[in-house]
Amino acid sequence: MAYQNLISEVKEHILYLTINREKALNALNKDTLAELADVVAFANKTDEVRGVIITGAGEKAFVAGADIKEFADYNGKQGKELAKRGQEQVFDAIENATKPFIAAINGFALGGGLELAMACHMRIAADNARLGLPEVTLGLIPGYGGTQRLTQLVGKGKAIEMITTANMITAADALAFGLVNHVVPQADLISKAEEILNLVKQRAPLAVSAAIKSVIAAVNNHNGYATEIEAFGKCFETADFKEGVAAFVEKRKAIFKGK
Ligand code: HXC
Repeated sequence: MAYQNLISEVKEHILYLTINREKALNALNKDTLAELADVVAFANKTDEVRGVIITGAGEKAFVAGADIKEFADYNGKQGKELAKRGQEQVFDAIENATKPFIAAINGFALGGGLELAMACHMRIAADNARLGLPEVTLGLIPGYGGTQRLTQLVGKGKAIEMITTANMITAADALAFGLVNHVVPQADLISKAEEILNLVKQRAPLAVSAAIKSVIAAVNNHNGYATEIEAFGKCFETADFKEGVAAFVEKRKAIFKGK
């Protein structure tokens, strides 16, 4: 797919997505968000994609936030619309995706950039990455779900400290706080994400989707236990369940078809 602000490529069932506005530290302007909405919808509906890796162009930034220059003269109504549209079309769409999204945080992940990483199902940070929600320095608060997802990931105390001080934290602190899954040298970032997705790719796709949906239900007050019971029952109706059990009994590797 050809985009202006994204590089998007599918290789061996992994969609590699690079936010490509290096001169603006990959800040999310309106066009980039619209392109992200498009590619997330594509990733969700095609069986060719089994997982997504999102990173930023260059070595300095993952994403340095929403494009500040673009909303400099917004009023309250426009601000609210910006947050609502972005959350629905991009951030919630990623979180509710049926396949895993991994943020490969290659540098600054600030404001909307950290919010993008937090909407992903997993986060891997380069050891030189810096993470933060500095919106209060602009007289704003996070608007792409950051107050909610940071609290889910690191708890109330640390979330309030990070948001109200606007301090950036190191990758090592992010790991200690549970904000990222792994920290690796920058050169190993994509291969670490691939290592995870290559394992997920061997598993039953419908079971992977059901697992993601059930976990997300736990953090979003969507009646997680009932969601899990329902999703668990549905797994028994899949051909992949029969294949998984048959493969176990026959002591061979399962070949899953996503059916
Ligand atoms: C627009 C940005 C930008 C941003 C950086 N740039 N961040 N442009 N929006 N969020 C641009 C700069 O203007 C500059 O372009 C170029 O990228 C390089 O940035 P510098 O500041 O010169 O780099 P450096 O001195 O190394 O500082 C890096 C930085 C700093 C610490 C990351 O750029 C910074 O603080 N950026 C803003 C971070 C931020 O506040 N993010 C939250 C945004 S609000 P020019 O052309 O000027 O040289 C947000 C709200 C989300 O995300 C919710 C919305 C609903």
